[in-house]
Amino acid sequence: MTTVEIRLPGRICPVHIGENLIRQTGSFVASLGRARKVLVVTDDNVAPLYLDTVLSSLTEAGLEAFSAVLPHGESTKTLSSLEGLYHTLAGHGITRSDIVLALGGGVMGDLAGLAAATWLRGVRLVQVPTSLLAQVDSSVGGKVAVDLPEGKNLVGAFYQPDLVLCDPSVLSTLTPAFWADGLGEVVKYGCIMDPDLFDLLEKLAPGGRDALMGSMHDIVSACVRDKAKVVSEDERDTGARMILNFGHTVGHAIETCQGYAGLSHGCAVAAGMVAISTLSEKQGLTEQGTTERLVRLLETLHLPVTLPPIPLHDLTAAMGMDKKTFNSTLHLVVLDRIGSCRIHKASTDFFAGL
Ligand SMILES: NC(=O)c1ccc[n+]([C@@H]2O[C@H](COP(=O)([O-])OP(=O)(O)OC[C@H]3O[C@@H](n4cnc5c(N)ncnc54)[C@H](O)[C@@H]3O)[C@@H](O)[C@H]2O)c1
Ligand SMILES: [Zn+2]
Repeated sequence: MTTVEIRLPGRICPVHIGENLIRQTGSFVASLGRARKVLVVTDDNVAPLYLDTVLSSLTEAGLEAFSAVLPHGESTKTLSSLEGLYHTLAGHGITRSDIVLALGGGVMGDLAGLAAATWLRGVRLVQVPTSLLAQVDSSVGGKVAVDLPEGKNLVGAFYQPDLVLCDPSVLSTLTPAFWADGLGEVVKYGCIMDPDLFDLLEKLAPGGRDALMGSMHDIVSACVRDKAKVVSEDERDTGARMILNFGHTVGHAIETCQGYAGLSHGCAVAAGMVAISTLSEKQGLTEQGTTERLVRLLETLHLPVTLPPIPLHDLTAAMGMDKKTFNSTLHLVVLDRIGSCRIHKASTDFFAGL
């Protein structure tokens, strides 16, 4: 087992990474002390696979365990689901000393996290992320939220979990699409700050999912360590954390232009990373050959490397660079080379060759 400590002002949040860790959920949660009851919040894809394991492990550890099983998918990350959870928490008499446990992908983590942040003005939160994206990204860093019809993640909080348990073995049941989605974020860490991780991915990628799964403990640990480092420097996302947005400015614009019905998030980020790297390399901001390496790795991982057919004007408008804000600059994350990045202030001209 690997433990990464996220060091924040006044507290430390441990992230444990280990094969079959999910079976020991109960003893880890019990070791937090004081709790009598645990509400496990999960979705209807994850529940048939892992809920029994988690509930029996909690019960064996002497805790009273309840569950709330919600429909899977982004459409569950709403205020009405949150209200439903409050009624469940009330029904089970969850008190200030009890615990909310998020079991699932980023949707469950964000939703259950916001419930924990607000129920009785805050009860302890345990994250047991089961998607690759949730293990390497959303469960680490303390952002919790729900969506509104007006936009994603508009209602939320910074609320750090007391414990995160990442079990890479559960990733074996992810669908190919969600597997690829998470890999987009994994490659991102390699690009912005972790050349060793990038090398490892290049070595394993030709062996396909089996080869990657064989080293998933190391891969997840590296990503968690990278994110923990960035989050520790900038818990509230006011500066250093911005480098995690590599590929995301263009990626988010793709998702917006396609009405969230086209490329998935990780795939949009992959295409976005290539777009930015191509432009920054052309402009002499990035070491020559970087984009070629990035494209080769993403292709081997079956991630997109070209932008979907969206007019350039629509894309830049979605990045907040329309005519009204013509002279505005965007703070873009560009690579110096694989494993190192910086913030570059770009105007619309930057995107001229797209
Ligand atoms: N809080 C943050 O810092 C942060 C960061 C990035 C993304 N997010 C949020 O995370 C969400 C996306 O996360 P996601 O991609 O994990 O989505 P998700 O929670 O919808 O999970 C993806 C899919 O995989 C299924 N699944 C999860 N684990 C599984 C497993 N082990 N086996 C089989 N199926 C499994 C889920 O049921 C779902 O259908 C978005 O809402 C996004 O806004 C939050
Ligand atoms: Zn992302």
